[in-house]
Amino acid sequence: MIVTHLSLTDFRNYEHLDVALHPGANLFVGSNGQGKTNLVESLGYLSTLGSHRVSVDHAMIRAGQESAIVRARLASGEREILAEVQLNRTGPNRAQVNRSPIKTRELPRYFSSVLFAPEDLALVRGEPSGRRRFLDELLILRTPRMSSVVADYERVLRQRNTLLKTARNARGDLSTLDIWDERLVTLGSEIIIARSWLVDELSPEVTRAYGAIAGADHAARLSSRLSIFSSSTDDEVEDADANRSGPLEQSAVADGFRAALARLRRAELDRGVTLAGPHRDDLVLELNALPARGYASHGESWSFALSLKLASAEVLRREASTGDPVLILDDVFAELDESRRGRLAAAVGDYEQVLITAAVFGDVPDELASNIVRIRAGAVVDDE
Ligand SMILES: Nc1ncnc2c1ncn2[C@@H]1O[C@H](COP(=O)(O)OP(=O)(O)OP(=O)(O)O)[C@@H](O)[C@H]1O
Ligand SMILES: [Mg+2]
Repeated sequence: MIVTHLSLTDFRNYEHLDVALHPGANLFVGSNGQGKTNLVESLGYLSTLGSHRVSVDHAMIRAGQESAIVRARLASGEREILAEVQLNRTGPNRAQVNRSPIKTRELPRYFSSVLFAPEDLALVRGEPSGRRRFLDELLILRTPRMSSVVADYERVLRQRNTLLKTARNARGDLSTLDIWDERLVTLGSEIIIARSWLVDELSPEVTRAYGAIAGADHAARLSSRLSIFSSSTDDEVEDADANRSGPLEQSAVADGFRAALARLRRAELDRGVTLAGPHRDDLVLELNALPARGYASHGESWSFALSLKLASAEVLRREASTGDPVLILDDVFAELDESRRGRLAAAVGDYEQVLITAAVFGDVPDELASNIVRIRAGAVVDDE
């Protein structure tokens, strides 16, 4: 899939932008703070309904304006569509495909992209929640139905936590807890199992991508840390029992989940929170048999983060009927040494379309320096 045209109205520092994009590499260059990231963020939003920089949509509406519009012409093979989202400061956002309204949450079905950005370093160095979000977003991109499973699980979790708190304070009736437990186990097991299949599929891709970027096999591997199999309620404690690799079976997960809730009942009532389930799990990243978090160097961590993204792009392209996801590389070359830059360029070179931003033109390998678009103060400017 490729974006053939992008138009922005009152998005971040763009009052109005119209830009044609080409197949293959497109390079956006300009000094700091001119709008390069803003431009690619708009496309990231169109494909995921989220930003890699902020959790609130209104930050993307140009200061002083009431709404922003992102409109993109997308082509996959012979098929062309016009996808559009309007972000509103008050009231819900609106989406259209070929000028007909659709439910906003259906928009990601029409456009798939994978965005690489400096913020991805948090995938390796940050809290487990970021890694869970990475897995769940990919799950939902591949199996849209998982979106409601994840939302239902979160709702059941909130209600169960409320019940645990009131039971603790009022020494309340615990019989309703059993009903919530069963719903938690059903929905939670579905998430745990779906993630385990995904991790199993991603793991060899990550190993391959890391090798491709680093130029040697540093044995980058993935596994899962599952709170339902853990003997500790502290996420930070290393616990071999909780580590799993390979796809998991329905019955083993559901039984393990029930057993964990029984084991943790007293601690949960004391603390008023649910202590086991997919909301407490982690994706474990290993480099040379050591955890990447806390051991890997800056360059290694960054390469690992890029490998995770590249692996997710590979998994998406493998089964997509609409062609490759559009790869968006925001400021990724500045952080890599010369040889890793060249290898990353080679690894992304065969995607149908790659959008790249850079403040320093020379940071981007020559083979990606095509269709150069210069950005200054929220506008495309002519080549000087
Ligand atoms: N909602 C908004 N309304 C108006 N301007 C905004 C809004 N959000 C961000 N900006 C402006 O956009 C500019 C930042 O643009 P952007 O992050 O795209 O820069 P960049 O070209 O990627 O720079 P760098 O090379 O430093 O990454 C800042 O000047 C910021 O003030
Ligand atoms: Mg930027």
